Amino acid sequence: MTSARDNETLTSVGPGTPMGELMRRYWVPAALSSEVTKDGDPLRLKLLCEDLIAFRDSSGRVGVMDHRCPHRCASLFFGRNEEGGIRCVYHGWKFDVDGNCTDMANVPPHQDFKHKVHAKAYRAEERAGLIWVYMGDQARVPALPDLEVLQLDADAVGIDVFQRECNWLQALEGDIDTSHVDFLHGGTRTVDDFPPDDPRRYGAIHRDPEYTIAETDWGTMYGAHRPADQGRRYWRVAHFLFPFWTMTPAGVFDTYIHARAWVPMDDHHTMGFGLSKKGSRLTAIGNAKQGIALHVEERLPNTTDRFGRWRFAANARNDYRIDRAAQQSQIYSGITGITLQDQAMTESMGEVVDRSLEHLAPSDRMIAVTRRRLLFAAQALQKDAVAPPGADEPGVFHGARGGYYLAPENAEWQDFYKERLTSVRRQASSAAAAE
Ligand code: FES
Ligand SMILES: [Fe+2]
Repeated sequence: MTSARDNETLTSVGPGTPMGELMRRYWVPAALSSEVTKDGDPLRLKLLCEDLIAFRDSSGRVGVMDHRCPHRCASLFFGRNEEGGIRCVYHGWKFDVDGNCTDMANVPPHQDFKHKVHAKAYRAEERAGLIWVYMGDQARVPALPDLEVLQLDADAVGIDVFQRECNWLQALEGDIDTSHVDFLHGGTRTVDDFPPDDPRRYGAIHRDPEYTIAETDWGTMYGAHRPADQGRRYWRVAHFLFPFWTMTPAGVFDTYIHARAWVPMDDHHTMGFGLSKKGSRLTAIGNAKQGIALHVEERLPNTTDRFGRWRFAANARNDYRIDRAAQQSQIYSGITGITLQDQAMTESMGEVVDRSLEHLAPSDRMIAVTRRRLLFAAQALQKDAVAPPGADEPGVFHGARGGYYLAPENAEWQDFYKERLTSVRRQASSAAAAE
């Protein structure tokens, strides 16, 4: 059981909290690169409970900083994005993307102290179509995490971004909870909906997988397994990666390259950034009437509000447009679209779920182990300054890939996983070399 105290530790990410300090040891995806244009409007951001702005200067560099001007704290959101920096419209002080004050326009030159003034700016980078921010110690910034999907060219990566109105951890836990897939998403599917050679058919036959869990250098992993035929088992392998990443089994292991960040905006709002190699994501099985199409989620227009970006038109205010007649016939949940189905379930728990009320089952072991790992890491950082997993070693993340496959009945699961991953990567690099 997760106590109220542990729950608070796990779910609070503001500055100075144990989990907030842990998160600040990693790079954080903040926005799409396309959300800020050269000399264009500043973008309001909420990240780890901090109010920030992002802008792109005349040379194309991105700045991410506290939204408050260091002079008298007016918001730089209203600033003028001018040649080489952002100028506060209150008294005209100007700042470059590194936070240096480059002009103190309302002060005579002999009283100017601009060299002593710095806006609180964070290091920003761009990769895979995203703006990334490092909000920890600016004097020791690590490399970006060595996720497989980040090694692809940006134009080979598909991005799925959406806001969720709940705490980051309950959003993330939906991704490491594989047994919901054949209910929430596929409860009306039958084995006949799958081609004979599609291993996912075994999920429709056996809706009660067994789990094995392991702690890894990058976080935790699970293998959910079910009987298949011809002396094989159907495995779905997935990961949690510090501090807020998942790799789900939603594709064929040999080709599916994917990672998803559940970025805390504050303790009650989360931005999901899904990165997938284009074309490697699963194809929905079943028909549209079964409600499992992936991309039917109509969006509300983005606004300049901190919480005004990437929201769905179907949401808690309209019960996710649940169709009760369809629920009685073809759509198990009555809600259309996989992402929206997940959205409804995790938001319906409340902004921060009271985990003392849960009754975790063997199917939740991955969740329990992951919570424990996060708690230990946050406490070890707070008490003994121990760097959390992968924070100083971005290379460890390369060991993870999620997906499904059939394995011989008696294969040792982690050995099989490692060998399969090594083998598919070797084949992919020799195919690339031959091109
Ligand atoms: S508050 Fe920004 S220049 Fe005065
Ligand atoms: Fe789901």
